[in-house]
Amino acid sequence: MGTYNIGVIPGDGIGPEVIREAVRVLEIVAAQQGFKLNLVDYPYSGEHYLKTKELVPASVIDEWKTQDAILLGAIGHPDVEPGLVERSVILGLRFGLDLYINLRPVKLYAEHLCPIKGKTPADVDMVVVRENTEGLYAQIGGILKRDTPDEVALVNGVYTWKGCERAIRYAFEIAKQRAEMRGKDGRTPCVTLVDKSNAVRPLDIWSRAMAHVAQDFPGIDTDHAYIDAACMWMIKNPEWFDVVVTPNLFGDILTDVGAMIQGGMGIAASGNIHPGQTSMFEPIHGSAPKHAGKNTASPMGAIMAVAMLLDYLGETSGANRIEEAVRQLLASGEIPSLDTRSGISTSQAGDMVIARLEEA
Ligand code: IPM
Ligand code: MG
Repeated sequence: MGTYNIGVIPGDGIGPEVIREAVRVLEIVAAQQGFKLNLVDYPYSGEHYLKTKELVPASVIDEWKTQDAILLGAIGHPDVEPGLVERSVILGLRFGLDLYINLRPVKLYAEHLCPIKGKTPADVDMVVVRENTEGLYAQIGGILKRDTPDEVALVNGVYTWKGCERAIRYAFEIAKQRAEMRGKDGRTPCVTLVDKSNAVRPLDIWSRAMAHVAQDFPGIDTDHAYIDAACMWMIKNPEWFDVVVTPNLFGDILTDVGAMIQGGMGIAASGNIHPGQTSMFEPIHGSAPKHAGKNTASPMGAIMAVAMLLDYLGETSGANRIEEAVRQLLASGEIPSLDTRSGISTSQAGDMVIARLEEA
């Protein structure tokens, strides 16, 4: 029987509450599927920083590299300088472990959760592959003459051929896998590149890398949209999208749109992945300080992050069972919404997922 070593970073705000439920779900699935867990908790968060002034030490990044996966709640504290702890923990993981893919499924589980009139689960089922270690997030730049009238802020976007190519290749592989799952009567797979190469010409490296990789995948259609139009199309015609690949910042923005059309921040999950190496899984939502400690936040994003984590570890059946339990609870209306006014508490939602898993 295998044992998985999993680092758990509950983080700030609603993070610890949603991670508590996600870990309970993980433990039930482990018992049912017959694998063992060695969960190691890490305190890094804004809260921890305020108490200790400690950010993530380099030795801990090394330790994370030896684990099978990391589960993260949310990072962000209103009393800490914006971005300080986020850069240390979230970007520390993404850059430190070279998690070059940010995989964000946008899947609607129940029609009533979709804010777009007339769209059903058949219309909203795509994945966004966000490049995760380059672009403006590389933070090559700085500030000159700070706090003077002559202040200058410079930041360079970084787009390497290697970075574009590996993200695009991953997107094609995912499109192929999704088509295999749909079977031979399913729609033709398609990878849509989203960029802004009309206004920012060097971004055309993405189109050239796309054309290069596409040659290796003759059965897969390709499409292209500029980021502004993609935000519009995703709301107007979400059924057009199968797999989207896009640079870091555009992916950050587009996946918040994606989260809304799949039912909201209360369900959206993501994987920060380096194929074959330690990868990190997290809900897309933030720490939501105003909802912290109230047991009202939806744990479904964190629970779906666990499903993604298990899928990544090859525990496909456990992953599918979690997804099906969540889908049933949402489709049946037992969990009527994914916001803090659903009438279902964080811990109750966890109980309901566990009850479903135990029945199945
Ligand atoms: C996300 C978040 C992060 C990002 C922040 C917290 C640094 O918005 O995961 O989408 O910008 O990537
Ligand atoms: Mg974001």
